[in-house]
Amino acid sequence: MNPNILILGAPGAGKGTQSARIAEEFDVEHVTTGDALRANKHMETEHGTPASFMDAGELVPDPVVNEIVNAALSEADGYVLDGYPRNLSQAEYLDDITDLDVVLYLDVAEDELVGRLTGRRLDPETGDIYHVEYNPAEDEAVKERLVQRDDDTEETVRERLRVYRENTEPVIEHYEDTGELVRIDGEQTPDGVWDDIKETVEEEA
Ligand code: AP5
Repeated sequence: MNPNILILGAPGAGKGTQSARIAEEFDVEHVTTGDALRANKHMETEHGTPASFMDAGELVPDPVVNEIVNAALSEADGYVLDGYPRNLSQAEYLDDITDLDVVLYLDVAEDELVGRLTGRRLDPETGDIYHVEYNPAEDEAVKERLVQRDDDTEETVRERLRVYRENTEPVIEHYEDTGELVRIDGEQTPDGVWDDIKETVEEEA
């Protein structure tokens, strides 16, 4: 059986960057609530559209997100779950529907996160993640088609970090209390972070 991996960390900690490598190396599904919600941003739900929450940096209501995660995990043979749980009620829901093999936490100081997010650029064709300074695209054709995410403006980034401190830090404490949390130094280079993740998953899973 392929491993069930949870990756936690603040906005911009590098979850998306590292999840792509985890999915490839360990042959697991990358389940990301952020991407799933972005793909359905304008879908009407009884709680409103995901866009109305996301563009303001707020959390999308739990019932919408829980349903996405439940459906995705029930179809996956091993996964890396990224962007969920973001509050204690989501963490309780997750405990009820699955068993985790590894819980990774990418530890990055807050003053580094704003620059990472406002400088992030995405390739809409491949989903690859770049940064104007730390990881610039080299191919001219790729460079020209890069886009910025709607919620990567400085004002919304600051609100996302506030929401993270208030709602998601208790989730980190929850997995620390259960003894499952493995802290990874997320301020190394992407390759340095990856080396630590690979070693941890190989040991724990
Ligand atoms: P979501 O899409 O999940 O965003 P996030 O958690 O805020 O995290 P990001 O994707 O912004 O950052 P990341 O950690 O993946 O960083 P990345 O690897 O790109 O959520 C968006 C919104 O959706 C939420 O605000 C909410 O509204 C809604 N939502 C999602 N899930 C929800 C849920 N469960 N419940 C309710 N609402 C939900 O890296 C960032 C940048 O840094 C990149 O440019 C990258 O190149 C660079 N970088 C990466 N690693 C390094 C490194 N080691 N050194 C230097 N630069 C690096």
